[in-house]
Amino acid sequence: MVQMEVRLPPEMEADDLKARERARSQELQRDGSWVHLWRVAGRYANVSVFDVGSPDELHELLSSLPLFPYIDAHVTALARHPSKLDQPTEEERRLMSERANQLISDILRRVHEAIVENEVTYEEYQAVKQWFIDVGEAGEWPLFGDVYIEHVVEKNAFGDRAGSQGTILGPFHLPDAPVLEAPYELPRRPDEQGDRTVVTGRVTDTDGNPLAGANLDVWQADASGAYSGFMPGPPEGNLRGQVRTRDDGRYEFRTVIPGPYTIPLDGPTGRLTAAADWSPWRPSHIHLIVSAEGHEPLVTQLFIDTSDYLHDDVASAVKDELIVHPEPTGKGDELGFSYDFVLAPIHAPVPVG
Ligand code: DHB
Ligand code: FE
Repeated sequence: MVQMEVRLPPEMEADDLKARERARSQELQRDGSWVHLWRVAGRYANVSVFDVGSPDELHELLSSLPLFPYIDAHVTALARHPSKLDQPTEEERRLMSERANQLISDILRRVHEAIVENEVTYEEYQAVKQWFIDVGEAGEWPLFGDVYIEHVVEKNAFGDRAGSQGTILGPFHLPDAPVLEAPYELPRRPDEQGDRTVVTGRVTDTDGNPLAGANLDVWQADASGAYSGFMPGPPEGNLRGQVRTRDDGRYEFRTVIPGPYTIPLDGPTGRLTAAADWSPWRPSHIHLIVSAEGHEPLVTQLFIDTSDYLHDDVASAVKDELIVHPEPTGKGDELGFSYDFVLAPIHAPVPVG
């Protein structure tokens, strides 16, 4: 725990310094080393908790703060308290390290085998290390994980769960999308590109009973493949929203058909993809999390059947059961398709069908 008192000379112009202090502090919070930060009410002071390996590391971290020359810091070392609630028991701790040992050993053994079998050179090893650094600096670990790893976790965890098929969450979900009102329509720009479409269907349990008031949290790229909140172009909240089912379990919302999406080509994930001469594309898809009380939430995507890349998805997330076929509804240029979602009861262990 560190108590910091900031003493700036009264005549000093410190706006720039404070802005840099804020940026550095947020960087340290994001990387997990600055765990708690509290203002001391009424004083230019804070109480902070840092997670560090040694006093030297703490000093290095504190002296990296732009305001360091003006900070009076008092450090108190904190140890675990045996009476604190919510701490793992000895037995839980033992099980966790057994699991960590098993997993880490297994993964490393397979990496080591691949190195031997492929006679990986020192140059290649150095290039991989640099690539690790680049992925971190570009903030692309979530992207890389969701493109190349998540689909296996998803299939393994949920592949034979009762109810509708799920698929990967991906990196572009934002919590707390606006709760929309009927008639439901995902927020879009007045000049939003892409074919208008209406999506309808029912949400039921595995016995076919309608689930009233089920929630569909929907998000998607625009016609050019851009997700709001992550890419330049679409305004905040564009093509994101929550839709509810009616008493008969039916839902209906209007949106546009999204375009296919390429992972960023200029970043390290794109470079890896290009190096292996793989396609960087994902087919057009709409993301949903369908949830209802007493049921397992379903994280899934619906894939547009006319899209390219359906059989060459860089994220390997397409399942045949999730492909939809939009057709003209007869109302102007509007397209429409229907999809029924079946939710498994909570912790359903038994596969159905
Ligand atoms: C990625 C993008 C997506 O739209 C998606 O659904 C899954 C993964 C990605 O770029 O990682
Ligand atoms: Fe997506």
